[in-house]
Amino acid sequence: MKITSILNLVITASLVRALNIPSHTNTTIIDKRQTTSTASSSERYVFAHFMVGFVNSYTQDDWDRDVALALSKGIDGFALNCDGQDTNAQQLQFAFTAASSSNFKLFISPDFVHYSCEDPGPVTELLKPWVTQSAYFQYDGKPFVSSFWGEGTDWVKVRENVGVDLYVCPYYYASQAAVDTPGLDGLFSWRTWPGEGQDTVVFENMTTAPDEEYLGLLAPLGEAYMAPVSPWFYSHLPASTGYAKNYYLYSDTLWPTRWQQILDLVTQYPDQVKFVEIITWNDWTESSLISPYRGTMETDGNKDWAEDFDHSAFMDMMGPFISAFKAGNAQPEVTENRLVWWYRPTLKAAECSGTDSVGEKPRGWDMAADSVFVAALTTGPATVTVTIGGTASSQQVDGAGVHTLAFPMSVGSVSFQMDVDGGGGASGQGSIEISDQCYRGVYNFNVLAGTAAADGTSSGTSNTGGSASAPVSSEAVPSSTAARSDDSTPSSAESTPSGGGVANTQQGSSAYSTPSDSGVAITQQPSSVSSAPANTGAGSSVQAQPYSSHPWGGWRTGGWGN
Ligand SMILES: *[C@@H]1O[C@H](CO)[C@@H](O)[C@H](O)[C@H]1NC(C)=O
Ligand SMILES: *[C@@H]1O[C@H](CO)[C@@H](O)[C@H](O)[C@H]1NC(C)=O
Repeated sequence: MKITSILNLVITASLVRALNIPSHTNTTIIDKRQTTSTASSSERYVFAHFMVGFVNSYTQDDWDRDVALALSKGIDGFALNCDGQDTNAQQLQFAFTAASSSNFKLFISPDFVHYSCEDPGPVTELLKPWVTQSAYFQYDGKPFVSSFWGEGTDWVKVRENVGVDLYVCPYYYASQAAVDTPGLDGLFSWRTWPGEGQDTVVFENMTTAPDEEYLGLLAPLGEAYMAPVSPWFYSHLPASTGYAKNYYLYSDTLWPTRWQQILDLVTQYPDQVKFVEIITWNDWTESSLISPYRGTMETDGNKDWAEDFDHSAFMDMMGPFISAFKAGNAQPEVTENRLVWWYRPTLKAAECSGTDSVGEKPRGWDMAADSVFVAALTTGPATVTVTIGGTASSQQVDGAGVHTLAFPMSVGSVSFQMDVDGGGGASGQGSIEISDQCYRGVYNFNVLAGTAAADGTSSGTSNTGGSASAPVSSEAVPSSTAARSDDSTPSSAESTPSGGGVANTQQGSSAYSTPSDSGVAITQQPSSVSSAPANTGAGSSVQAQPYSSHPWGGWRTGGWGN
């Protein structure tokens, strides 16, 4: 007995050295390394974060519709954020019923803003009825559980109480203490907006640095990482709601940038990057949603800046990325010509304080470029034309791939046209006219998204009759209103006449779209740009302003007033 355990210790010590595992880890963790590999390395999943507490009035039909929509866009399941309201149980019943007739999966993600880390009881009670359901997501043969926060939770105890071996992958901050927590199988990160998890609004594009922090801790243990992706962040809630949240996190080109980063990560860490969680499916109070607006809470004023701003077209950009993620490929493979666009309704200089529900411009507002953004998903070279208020400007993309383009924003109705070299194209119309006046009287740094595919399907369009007439002219001249555009949008983005009409002479597009041999171009910006801390636009600079999303005093507990 004694000799055996000494031998074990010796063997353990040499394994520790051989695997270069920090010496304060021990046999338990090494055992994990040996057992986590039973799930095939090609098994990868994409989930969306569903705020169950936001849909207290949802019916079975609502759930059926949301499950079918998510499934049709390539999402494998919902991470069900539960906030402990009595209504959660009924909603979970609807959710599991909706998922049970398909391959769609569900797992529970307790929100520790509402649950206590000290008492494993309520979390156990939450999980127990559902983990044995057929639609409950299992990984490695175990029901999967995630979280929003919850450091200090005794997962060993929760497992014991639930009576089922769980696969535990919570959102904790990246730290040695977090990965050393007994009973964890992996970690999930919430850091998918620049500045998230820091105490500042940050004017930089998202990088994979936060992911690398997690992976640096998880990879030596052979543990899994759930990477976050989000299209946007804007919240504009008055203090009277108990959540004084009034800020924009820099999201202009976040969605395509972040998806490309997921592919960068999966090729680098194929054994760790098993899961992606889209944050969120339905948080319209933070503009991070990808589902259509189903706002059920009307007292916090979100309707004014969220209701008309459908984000669901963002989902039409992610298909090629999801396929590449699952295959472990570095680049998306585009098989269908499609445009996805997104833009704010109002030029950022607009002053709305007189009529605004919060009364102040959101922190970070100045970071937003006055640009209309387009992701061109192309199977070959193409010309993308955006016409605003009757003035057209064009940019060319020179190969297959996902190309993110920015066009100067100006006042007027917006239409989009893509002409693929050799035939085919797509066109559509933005559902809201851009204005220099406040939309519904409030500051709005949310976006609306729309899409049009080469086969003529188009969504997020208000006008089906008048599209497709945009001139594809290489003579497009910037209108005077284009001068209002933020200088961070390359001014050369307007079409420059070119003799042959073929070559891309626009420096502007190269900032967004880097052609490569593999025919894929996307948002790999020069490092000199990402290190530039401040807006180069005339007279605008963004001060790093403190905010905190920490549970102790952050906006989630209402402690972040102005
Ligand atoms: C080994 O680590 C696990 C998990 O961190 C912990 O529960 C256990 O007490 C440790 N055992 C020893 C002998 O240090
Ligand atoms: C973010 O990336 C886009 C695309 O490369 C670039 O145009 C923009 O200037 C970048 N923003 C910042 C703050 O660096």
